[in-house]
Amino acid sequence: MFPHLPVHRMVIVTANTKLPGYSNVSSQNNLRSIGKKNLRKRFMHLVICLLFLSLIFKFLIEISYHEKLAVKNFHKSFRIKKHEFEQNIDPYQDHLLPADSNSSLYSVEDEILDVEIIDLPSETMLLNITHFKWIRNNESLCQKESLFVKILPVLVHTARNHFVERQAIRNTWASFQNYENWSVRPVFLMGEANPNSVPSIRQSEEEKLDHEHLIHGDIITGSFVDAYKNLTYKHLMGYKWILEHCQNADFVLKTDDDMFVDILQFIDMRNNESRIEDSSNQLQQEEKSSVDMYCYEFKGGIPLRCKGCKWHVSLEEWPEEKFPWYCSGWAYGITVDWINKIYLMSYQTKYFWIDDVFIGILMNMAISFFKTEPSFQSLNSLYTFNNKLYLDMCANQSNDLANATRSFGAVVYIARNQNFSKEMECLWNKTLVDKMSNSF
Ligand SMILES: *[C@@H]1O[C@H](CO)[C@@H](O)[C@H](O)[C@H]1NC(C)=O
Ligand SMILES: *[C@@H]1O[C@H](CO)[C@@H](O)[C@H](O)[C@H]1NC(C)=O
Ligand SMILES: *[C@@H]1O[C@H](CO)[C@@H](O)[C@H](O)[C@H]1NC(C)=O
Ligand SMILES: *[C@@H]1O[C@H](CO)[C@@H](O)[C@H](O)[C@H]1NC(C)=O
Ligand SMILES: *[C@@H]1O[C@H](CO)[C@@H](O)[C@H](O)[C@H]1NC(C)=O
Ligand SMILES: *[C@@H]1O[C@H](CO)[C@@H](O)[C@H](O)[C@H]1NC(C)=O
Ligand SMILES: *[C@@H]1O[C@H](CO)[C@@H](O)[C@H](O)[C@H]1NC(C)=O
Ligand SMILES: *[C@@H]1O[C@H](CO)[C@@H](O)[C@H](O)[C@H]1NC(C)=O
Ligand SMILES: *[C@@H]1O[C@H](CO)[C@@H](O)[C@H](O)[C@H]1NC(C)=O
Ligand SMILES: *[C@@H]1O[C@H](CO)[C@@H](O)[C@H](O)[C@H]1NC(C)=O
Repeated sequence: MFPHLPVHRMVIVTANTKLPGYSNVSSQNNLRSIGKKNLRKRFMHLVICLLFLSLIFKFLIEISYHEKLAVKNFHKSFRIKKHEFEQNIDPYQDHLLPADSNSSLYSVEDEILDVEIIDLPSETMLLNITHFKWIRNNESLCQKESLFVKILPVLVHTARNHFVERQAIRNTWASFQNYENWSVRPVFLMGEANPNSVPSIRQSEEEKLDHEHLIHGDIITGSFVDAYKNLTYKHLMGYKWILEHCQNADFVLKTDDDMFVDILQFIDMRNNESRIEDSSNQLQQEEKSSVDMYCYEFKGGIPLRCKGCKWHVSLEEWPEEKFPWYCSGWAYGITVDWINKIYLMSYQTKYFWIDDVFIGILMNMAISFFKTEPSFQSLNSLYTFNNKLYLDMCANQSNDLANATRSFGAVVYIARNQNFSKEMECLWNKTLVDKMSNSF
């Protein structure tokens, strides 16, 4: 469930306000004047009480705002009216909806006053899937074992039969339950089996997944067919899951199950950021300018128009020559607040199956909608695509990793072959070895 904030009205009564039917003409009647005085007195009491109550109320609201960080900005800045909540608005016309356009989709309100409360996305909706359900879930995956622990959920896009990849990730970089007080929680996102697959195979796969989930409790299955043309559902499902079950996350990482992420470097980067904040902004908590997104940026990407290839994009799907600016889904970091902003935009946008491009469209919409931009840090220089160097390092099991030169960045793509787990392990071992030698 999405939390709703209470609607409230501020009643502002000024000292000049006159009660209806109350005469200003001075009276010669003592009793009347005493009664008048009493009335005035009572009225003043009422005013003071109202002011006092509204102050308390405001204070409470503010506290609840801080607790419900993820929905805060949304509630503050705009309302979407129920009847205006539409599907299938063509996003290709204009990716950057001007914030002051006359679009009937939304209205921007400056104050929280007597307005129709927004209809937050419902639990049973996921884009145009109207009866969305969680098939496998773990609602307590983001639970903190103590207050000072910081939760870092890692949304991993995975296919149902990628048992080896998931285990490799659990065994290596996503295994840290406590590094610098950060607790890493891998969350594996998948859809349902193709209904046309062989029933016996489907059945045994289902059992293996149930078993895996029983042991690790980290598999999230949504009610859509797991297919790469359905990746956008997977991506938004991850966002939905964070908003419903993991709003207390301090930061979120999204990646694929064939990626190695140097989680230590990532956390160090994040900690550096908050340290800078702590020291320079102690008195100005409101003016925090921490990084909202770490990402590998794609600018001016071109859709592949090769009929028959895996990533072919038809003109009907994407009529334009280029994709908008977007963050690669290989591995990126994002705040819960921006996940919320982006997710809300999905209710007005037509489906497009390349998921990270789709998220990019939504982000562009959210930027103009909320009139605020996330602060970015580029990861482009931290990605490694040429794995020849680390393959050499990893090929020889007896190689001394401590003495080898580190030849890979913070994010590495690993080919799915029989060496997958070994390579993942090698990169992780090297990361740990370097970390240990650096901390002495
Ligand atoms: C918005 O609507 C107003 C009044 O209906 C109109 O005068 C104005 O030109 C419109 N602006 C745009 C950008 O369409
Ligand atoms: C959602 O919309 C897309 C694009 O119009 C369509 O391909 C898909 O089948 C729809 N999905 C559902 C579940 O209706
Ligand atoms: C972890 O949190 C505890 C309690 O707040 C604190 O004392 C400790 O210094 C923290 N450790 C690190 C590495 O931040
Ligand atoms: C859910 O995740 C938490 C945290 O990882 C774990 O302790 C718990 O056992 C899981 N629950 C289930 C039902 O698997
Ligand atoms: C995507 O998921 C929807 C909903 O389950 C399903 O109707 C559709 O066939 C799936 N698409 C593909 C390409 O499998
Ligand atoms: C964090 O800050 C330290 C000290 O300024 C610096 O040496 C280190 O490279 C930074 N780490 C990251 C991952 O940015
Ligand atoms: C796997 O690693 C071995 C050496 O450890 C190498 O000979 C082999 O070619 C690798 N396989 C692939 C598919 O890269
Ligand atoms: C593997 O590394 C060890 C120690 O560095 C070295 O002695 C050995 O020759 C290497 N083997 C291969 C096949 O490169
Ligand atoms: C690794 O380096 C250390 C010193 O830096 C050295 O003592 C050791 O022999 C080296 N190991 C190998 C296998 O080269
Ligand atoms: C990684 O380190 C572990 C524990 O030290 C070791 O058992 C494993 O063989 C190493 N794997 C690789 C690929 O270096």
